[in-house]
Amino acid sequence: MTRLTRPDLDALPAYVAGRTVPGAIKLASNEVPYGPLPGVVDAVTAAISGAHRYPDPGATALRAALSDRLGVDPDRIATGCGSVALFEHLFRATCLPGDEAVYAWRSFEAYPIIAAASAATSVRVPNTASHEHDLPAMAAAITDKTRLVIVCNPNNPTGTAAGKAALDAFLDAVPPTVLVALDEAYREFVTDPDVPDGLVEYGDRPNVVVLRTLSKAWGLAGLRVGYLIGSPEVAAAVRKVITPFSTSATAQAAALAALQSADEMQRRVDLITAERERVVTAVRKVYPDVPDTQANFFWLPLGDAALDFAAKCEESGVIVRAFAGDGVRVTISSPGENDAFLDCL
Ligand SMILES: Cc1ncc(COP(=O)(O)O)c(C=O)c1O
Repeated sequence: MTRLTRPDLDALPAYVAGRTVPGAIKLASNEVPYGPLPGVVDAVTAAISGAHRYPDPGATALRAALSDRLGVDPDRIATGCGSVALFEHLFRATCLPGDEAVYAWRSFEAYPIIAAASAATSVRVPNTASHEHDLPAMAAAITDKTRLVIVCNPNNPTGTAAGKAALDAFLDAVPPTVLVALDEAYREFVTDPDVPDGLVEYGDRPNVVVLRTLSKAWGLAGLRVGYLIGSPEVAAAVRKVITPFSTSATAQAAALAALQSADEMQRRVDLITAERERVVTAVRKVYPDVPDTQANFFWLPLGDAALDFAAKCEESGVIVRAFAGDGVRVTISSPGENDAFLDCL
């Protein structure tokens, strides 16, 4: 058969989403369990009546609301169809074929796929034995071909987070010609005061962009809204290459409503972080090697036992996320769902 697509894509692993099994408890996608925030359903319902119109391509109202919340100028913000899409746009805006992107491994599994799709070369730097980014090694991996470095903080799937001193030293070591993307998808769940808010601490560095999402703490995973904050130049370049209209009208309306419920978001996050403490303490009685986590999930470094462990959980009606030969990621949920996991354990 005549080949019509790029042969290099054959080697590309497909993105594996957390599985949904009817009737089972899903702790496999780092979602929050409480439903949409107050006001979101009404906002989406109202927005639907305009579904025959294209959305505002610049997400002006949403960027203004984010600008108010974050204290940055709207021209430093780009929104996208989830922060995963913003990563695609960021690669488009930074990497030509053959350029290098450095990131830790294991980390968010979309990075290698997005890098390969944009024909950038992935340079993966193994995590330390304690499942953290090896920031000195990442800095050392930068070459004159490197265009982008991704720091996932907290890291998916290990939950580990880099502290201020380590990040300061790392960012000081990165040449000003290389863009650093701080992926803070789980920022709202960080309770360790030593883990810096990337925007507050590093937002004034021209070669730093911060990516966040409304999918996790803000409960909008199904509507797809992420945002990026960078220098006006970088944000403008990203907006230029964004798939037009990819933050839908319903997504924009939902995000605006969710941002008005920040107190309720924080209350829910507090419930999750309290549960995180309880569950990780219980799990460590069986698996003492669980690393400290600053996200709404934790990591079980089970190595070759990962797939078996996940299969056993599934037999008991709990879906977790296994990474073959490496470990299992378990999302923190409501007390009842967490207890179901602890029962499996
Ligand atoms: C580290 C990290 N970054 C980015 C994302 C993308 O989230 P979304 O596209 O839903 O905004 C995820 C989602 O799982 C993630 O874990």
